[in-house]
Amino acid sequence: MKIIMKIEMKNGKLVVPDYPAIGYIRGDGVGEDIFPQAQKVFDAAVLKIYGQKKKIEWQKLLAGGEAFETCGEYLPKETLAHINENLIAIKGPLMTPVGESFRSINVTLRQKMDLYACVRPVEYFKGIKSPVKAPEKVDMTIFRENTEDIYAGIEFASETNESHNLLKFLEKELNVHSIRFPKTSALGIKPVSPEGSKRLVNAAFEYALKMNKKRVTFVHKGNIMKFTEGGFRNWAYEVAREYPTFTKLEYDEIKNERGSLQAENEKKAALKSGKIYVDDVIADNFLQQIILNPENFEVIATLNLNGDYISDALAAQVGGIGIAPGANINYKSGHAIFEATHGTAPDIAGKNIANPSSLILSGVMMFEYLGWQEVAELIKIALSFSFRNGNLTADLGGKLSTSKFSDVLIDFIKTY
Ligand code: NAI
Repeated sequence: MKIIMKIEMKNGKLVVPDYPAIGYIRGDGVGEDIFPQAQKVFDAAVLKIYGQKKKIEWQKLLAGGEAFETCGEYLPKETLAHINENLIAIKGPLMTPVGESFRSINVTLRQKMDLYACVRPVEYFKGIKSPVKAPEKVDMTIFRENTEDIYAGIEFASETNESHNLLKFLEKELNVHSIRFPKTSALGIKPVSPEGSKRLVNAAFEYALKMNKKRVTFVHKGNIMKFTEGGFRNWAYEVAREYPTFTKLEYDEIKNERGSLQAENEKKAALKSGKIYVDDVIADNFLQQIILNPENFEVIATLNLNGDYISDALAAQVGGIGIAPGANINYKSGHAIFEATHGTAPDIAGKNIANPSSLILSGVMMFEYLGWQEVAELIKIALSFSFRNGNLTADLGGKLSTSKFSDVLIDFIKTY
């Protein structure tokens, strides 16, 4: 007899029953088109790998427009309670309510669950058009800090009491006199802490070890923002010391003391012995480097705003947001929300033409997180096969509808 059970976190490890209850938020706009199709693909892959032994017990959760229509709230507390209790959920895109007190339902979900790592793997699939010459060189996973930085939302509008009071405080108490137009400036605050930075960097290293990655790069703007972004860099290097690594700091120290040749030799020896090479790159240079030499990077750890820019820039290099997956994870509590990274695409919603790949690849990340590795691999093989053979949706230059595209995947899975 099958027993639906909760996923639990025990001694720092995720314990996944054979019939786990997983909440899903269908999403607004194209969410209605892509979610049911993606779900069929997930179920077909689980059935193929495990037969009746394992199955996802989907539990519908309300959020966004659908929730507002049904119960007058964009993010009902039942939805939050379910994710809190059951740890894992997967979601389609949600519209951002205009003129509401909170900025976005996605941001609220991340904050409420303290989902501190935004994980975005970016890899190229053959058959997909790309604006760059060698997209196959892109194979990176971005770990973006998800709870701090300017996303904390501490901002005061131009010419308000709040910004004037803050300005007075800055001038009187902190002797700040460098604001160019003090009377009219809007002001914002950028909190970055060692705790927030280190837990994110830890997650990046754990991932690098698990996935056998050889390089971790910290991306920051510490040359300008010494204590926030520079702090992130320094705390990140502190975390690197807890792992089998050879860092650029060590390299530079050897180079200064004993010369370049020695530094190069020691780096080579360290990498040969299986250590991870760790360095840091200033964010603006990094945006050049991912176009010029993307093969040099594997795992990226960065702050919230940098991560936002980098994720979309890299997604564009491999074919756009229609195929970029994402996850927001708290590795300590186990809470995780997997999500399509694009929006509700109102221009194509309801037409059965949206690309479900971003959501399907988010599902791949979910299965990896659950430890159902074979399911994840099978879905990825099906996607590769489909793209390689020109089975594409309109956004990628193909002719397939959302449902036809998922039928191709399901047929492949059934006969694999
Ligand atoms: P969008 O991502 O919805 O659309 C941008 C462009 O990409 C449009 O041309 C759209 O047709 C296309 N596109 C997006 N997803 C696609 C898919 N799966 N297949 C084919 N083409 C696709 O961004 P936009 O228009 O800025 O936002 C619309 C709404 O979505 C807003 O309310 C916004 O707040 C929300 N949003 C939600 C996100 C989430 O839930 N994670 C993320 C981004 C935006």
